[in-house]
Amino acid sequence: MKRVLTGIKPTGYAHIGNYFGAIKPAIELSKNADYQCFYFIADYHALTTLENKEQVQDYFYNIACTWLACGLDPNKVVFYRQSDIKEDFELYWILCNLTPKGLMNRAHAYKAIVERNEESGIDRDDGINMGLYNYPILMAADILLFDTDYVPVGLDQKQHIEIARDIAHNFNVKYGKTLIEPNDYIDENNCTLVGLDGRKMSKSYNNTIMLFGTESALKKSIMRIVTDSRLPGEPKDADCTVNKLYKLFATTEEAEVFEKELLAGLGWGEAKNRLFDVANRFITPMREKFDYYMSHKDEVDKILADGANRAREVARGVLKRVRKAIGVE
Ligand code: ADP
Ligand code: TRP
Repeated sequence: MKRVLTGIKPTGYAHIGNYFGAIKPAIELSKNADYQCFYFIADYHALTTLENKEQVQDYFYNIACTWLACGLDPNKVVFYRQSDIKEDFELYWILCNLTPKGLMNRAHAYKAIVERNEESGIDRDDGINMGLYNYPILMAADILLFDTDYVPVGLDQKQHIEIARDIAHNFNVKYGKTLIEPNDYIDENNCTLVGLDGRKMSKSYNNTIMLFGTESALKKSIMRIVTDSRLPGEPKDADCTVNKLYKLFATTEEAEVFEKELLAGLGWGEAKNRLFDVANRFITPMREKFDYYMSHKDEVDKILADGANRAREVARGVLKRVRKAIGVE
């Protein structure tokens, strides 16, 4: 049985890009009996961006309840919170000593901030703390601690998995084969969802459709989708944002009819109303579960505590092997 592991950082409310790009495929994978899945909430990774403790709590429960509402089955998936796995932070420190500083200098996320600082003529490391700089090493620890074979992620995370592989390799060369060298699991067909303004949907662009807002918030977001100024009666393009999003929520037949109508001149207002109808129909049953978990946080805590116990059992075994390999027994 192959081990699959992935984590999501609770740095904002889950949006439909997270759902279709990460959560839904991960849940589908967990139904395959060939894989043993470990999914977690990367709350200590979120610390690089969060401002206060209310945000930490708020986003944490939003992401935890989202996974459960979307169908994660805690009996099948080992579902836990990163900060509960103390072994992770011990492995992280050991791995720091096997990671060349130059490797971190080349990490995309760090480099992008340095470049931005240089362009603005300020100190190159302005606003960069060691948590951000060492982020890929903690991520490597998250992965290597569980003898992970595959890590399902979006394309933007590919380099992080390569770094984890490099670190595992360095370890194995220095101390003998101890760690599994993980692979990314990137579904090339998996769509990158566009946001309200036509760019990639992302919290950082403030162009998202929140997955579990209220019905009226959903409607408001859909009404904000940027369209061209073509009037009702004028044909619309099939690759417009409204059509792309409609396809995700509708049946194949509905999607065909909708596209034909757009090409025949359906007005944007009416098209958006119809998008809202299918999106709301799709989301409503999950939203009910989400609301249930949000008002039963004790149940969520219990599920995660149980997941952490199961995860730590595996983690302890791997860490023991690592400590033995480096001579700290
Ligand atoms: P954001 O860009 O909103 O900050 P994250 O980086 O926290 O989102 O992404 C969490 C997960 O959701 C990742 O696996 C990422 O690949 C996926 N994801 C985020 N935005 C999209 C999108 N627009 N389309 C598809 N997948 C996405
Ligand atoms: N860095 C990932 C992201 O931003 C989140 C993450 C943290 C992760 N640790 C992980 C993903 C381990 C996969 C495996 O989306």
